Amino acid sequence: MDFYDVVKTRLSVRQYTQEPVEEDKLTRVLDAARIAPSAGNRQPWRYIVVRDEETKNRLRPAYDKEWFYTAPVIIVAFGDPATAWVRKDGRSYIDVDVTISFDHLVLAAAAEGLGTCWIANFDPAVVSEALGIPPEFEPLLLTPLGYPGATPQPRERKALDEIVYRERWSAR
Ligand SMILES: Cc1cc2nc3c(=O)[nH]c(=O)nc-3n(C[C@H](O)[C@H](O)[C@H](O)COP(=O)(O)O)c2cc1C
Repeated sequence: MDFYDVVKTRLSVRQYTQEPVEEDKLTRVLDAARIAPSAGNRQPWRYIVVRDEETKNRLRPAYDKEWFYTAPVIIVAFGDPATAWVRKDGRSYIDVDVTISFDHLVLAAAAEGLGTCWIANFDPAVVSEALGIPPEFEPLLLTPLGYPGATPQPRERKALDEIVYRERWSAR
């Protein structure tokens, strides 16, 4: 699929079929996340792949939306702060790096015909407890992964002239 088609195909999927995700597809999707660029090439992203129903149930108090658990796979993204690049002024780029990698994953999934949905509105402490993630790591993003059970409606976007400035910032 052409890159621009992939970008347009990706929509937040909030309904999944029970069809399992093939292991080779899952590997390709994770590999797309693996080869993402990162500040200083530190690659601070880490992923946990959840297929087990019991584990999914332990995640429910962290994000209690029924549709989320219709997906056969749940992916949890977090960063390793000790390995992330930090700017001179102390700003860590960990969230930027994890997010770029996660976007690779999400777009690769779309190219494979799989649905995803970025999830930030969850309780990270519950996710860490459920998955045994040590306190030095904080889960940043979740996504379900599976075959879409319905085609979502594309949501509206701002026009280019609302978000792009030419040469310098100007009041609008
Ligand atoms: C960083 C981030 C966090 C998000 N968190 C949630 C979430 O917690 N729950 C949810 O249902 N959707 C979440 N979304 C999905 C957005 O609502 C969605 O991307 C947006 O409405 C545009 O729709 P589209 O993805 O179908 O193009 C999140 C998206 C991003 C990028």
